[in-house]
Amino acid sequence: MTEPKEPQEMVVTPWKVEGEVDYDRLIEQFGTKPITQELRERLAKHAGYMHSQLRRGIFFSHRDLDWWLDAYEGGEPAGLYTGRGPSGPVHLGHLLPWFFTKYLQEAFGAELYFQMTDDEKFVYNPELTLEETNAYTYENALDLIAVGLDPDKTHIISDVDNIDHLYRTALQVAKRVTYSTIRSVFGLTDSDNIGIIFFPAIQAVPCFLQSIREDRKVAVLIPAAIDQDPYWRMTRDIAEKLGFYKPAQMHAKFLPGLGKGGKMSASMPETAVFTTDPPEVAEKKIMEAFTGGQPTVREQKEKGGNPSICSIYAYYYFLFEEDDGKLVELENECRSGALICGDCKARLARVVSRFLVDFQRKREKARDRLENFLIKS
Ligand code: TYM
Repeated sequence: MTEPKEPQEMVVTPWKVEGEVDYDRLIEQFGTKPITQELRERLAKHAGYMHSQLRRGIFFSHRDLDWWLDAYEGGEPAGLYTGRGPSGPVHLGHLLPWFFTKYLQEAFGAELYFQMTDDEKFVYNPELTLEETNAYTYENALDLIAVGLDPDKTHIISDVDNIDHLYRTALQVAKRVTYSTIRSVFGLTDSDNIGIIFFPAIQAVPCFLQSIREDRKVAVLIPAAIDQDPYWRMTRDIAEKLGFYKPAQMHAKFLPGLGKGGKMSASMPETAVFTTDPPEVAEKKIMEAFTGGQPTVREQKEKGGNPSICSIYAYYYFLFEEDDGKLVELENECRSGALICGDCKARLARVVSRFLVDFQRKREKARDRLENFLIKS
């Protein structure tokens, strides 16, 4: 059993997520809007079905999603942009917004610009070399491809290798953003290196890349977890000054780690399931996960468990139980004490293990197709 941690104050930045995340408070703090049932239905109408991440409020907040839909419905092209900081192997939390991005790409026939910030991860992480972050770009791209995106409509950018696509516009962005904005938006300190200070200009650029390449203004939507929002606050401030639309966003909640509280994070490998974990390793992590169960089987049978704090239940909820009816059944079985944590974990371990076997097969196949997904000049 992973040791429970003391409660911490909520911190959500692109580089740090700590404490119990209160998503309603984040909507207020960040000045975003909740995704309404009407918006969910508008998206579902174009897709032909409502994705479980919409139905369950996993994508819970947005900026200008209604405007992006208006643009599409008015006959304008609708673009997508998301990305990854390649600092190590991909975990299940990263896959969450990518599965949803695939849903959006199919529903809207959208071009997707996908940024691999091998520069960000190099300047930010003292332990990583540039060769390592750059190599992870192409390893992580296999995960993205395994999700099932369309090679004709997906353009993967390595910041390091494809800087020629980004630099001119990054300079235009950088000239219009002050150091004091960056310091306060990202919580920087005097000891941060200057690479970190400039980097947000680079992450802003793919918001505009489709517009630049197609020489017309394209409405772009960014599906990602809410930790990336500070970048878009900065980008939205300068977009129109550069002659582009402000990018719209959809924000996801975090897939929790397998410990008590907190998001799944590569910095805590024992509580994260990586797509490259051998299935038996992932099974072991799941069997050691924090649950909402009672200390003994006897108490569990008498009092029942608490799925709302249980990492195992969260995995079913976020990724591994599509059927809402079955999810309610699981919740009831847990609360009534009919289901014991050990059995529930073993069940999830089997599901995740099967998922990994299949995903790893697709991931290996992606090696031969990688070239088709990389941005062309
Ligand atoms: P990175 O590599 O930290 O995260 C990649 C994507 O995964 C999301 N994410 C999660 N989603 C759900 N549950 C979690 N536990 C979880 N952990 C991470 C992130 O929100 C992100 O969508 N700087 C970025 C790379 C980037 C980017 C972008 C991301 C460049 N351009 C545009 C999103 C959109 C980064 O380091 O992401």
